[in-house]
Amino acid sequence: MATIFITGGAGFIGSNFVRYWLQNYPDDCVINYDLLTYAGNLASLADVEQDFGERYLFVRGDIGNYELALHLFQQYKPDWVVNFAAESHNSRAIVNPEIFYQTNVLGTQRLLQAARDAKLARFHHISTCEVYGDLALDSDERFYENSPYRPRTPYNASKAAADMAVRAYHETFGLPVTISNCANNYGPYQFPEKLIPYFTIRLLQGQKMPLYKSSHNRREWIHVIDHCRAIESVLLHGQIGETYNIGTGLELDIEAVAELLLQIFELDDSYKTYVEDRPGHDRRYLLDSSKIESQLGWQPQIDFQQGFAETVAWYRQNSAWWQPLLRRLAINEEAWK
Ligand SMILES: NC(=O)c1ccc[n+]([C@@H]2O[C@H](COP(=O)([O-])OP(=O)(O)OC[C@H]3O[C@@H](n4cnc5c(N)ncnc54)[C@H](O)[C@@H]3O)[C@@H](O)[C@H]2O)c1
Repeated sequence: MATIFITGGAGFIGSNFVRYWLQNYPDDCVINYDLLTYAGNLASLADVEQDFGERYLFVRGDIGNYELALHLFQQYKPDWVVNFAAESHNSRAIVNPEIFYQTNVLGTQRLLQAARDAKLARFHHISTCEVYGDLALDSDERFYENSPYRPRTPYNASKAAADMAVRAYHETFGLPVTISNCANNYGPYQFPEKLIPYFTIRLLQGQKMPLYKSSHNRREWIHVIDHCRAIESVLLHGQIGETYNIGTGLELDIEAVAELLLQIFELDDSYKTYVEDRPGHDRRYLLDSSKIESQLGWQPQIDFQQGFAETVAWYRQNSAWWQPLLRRLAINEEAWK
């Protein structure tokens, strides 16, 4: 019986991971430590509370609150900490970069310090493909775990700095860490400011999808449950001090995502409209994921077409989940004009 301490468990990937772990490890306990920012949503865990209440504990708190984190680490002695908590939306980072450095860099450092002082056995940090910078659309390159970090936006840069802090705590203080850098996730419970839920919910409401003008900029897509399985592999079999890329190799540009949605909704091109790119809009990221595949035996399992259709169906069936979030959509995608 193990205890896993998850930060940011009320967000998109964290809430899927909390559910995944409780379903698959019937003897384990999960502590979900989340500040409940605009992106945190306990409604994403209503079923978890009900089904796994005795093995699940929610604590509201900031990863930057060293005293509270240390107190909880000493009280519960978790076997693993998995740090999902972050400010995660690139567009918001353009309007308010400060909170990104506050949470993603300083918050991570305080959590690392608490883990060090509590002498925890393992700290796993969730990072992103975006730390490596972007690729030209026609490039043959991919990003490897040892590729240089070339972040271009405040969000990317804050995640890159957090990765560096995690490595420094390992190299300097011997904290047992691992890091994973993942491609773009899609799936249920994603805050409706992100591309796929944003476009899907616009169409469900009879509104047009606003595509950035550089609509051929593309992303590598992974279903959130394949990401959860990859984190599980790293927790169980990863080597201390190592970093693992997590991707599928499946790339799709914004135009193709919009086209797929128009097909599913049986709508025509008049439901597309074009808006200015946000500043620093990365063109492309592509990960080489052969390390996690060959060393840990992980492979993505969810077919994109099927996962995408199921995701759209989930948002269609769960308007009660996303409706209340629409009033939290404060970001104006053209605020930088
Ligand atoms: N979404 C993706 O495609 C993607 C891809 C690669 C990596 N990541 C990384 O995965 C992690 C989770 O991403 P997500 O999409 O689920 O994000 P999200 O924005 O949906 O959730 C973030 C969660 O962190 C919480 N949080 C924010 N600040 C906090 C703080 N100071 N203390 C405690 N909790 C705090 C929020 O309340 C929210 O519940 C992030 O670290 C992100 O950088 C995301």
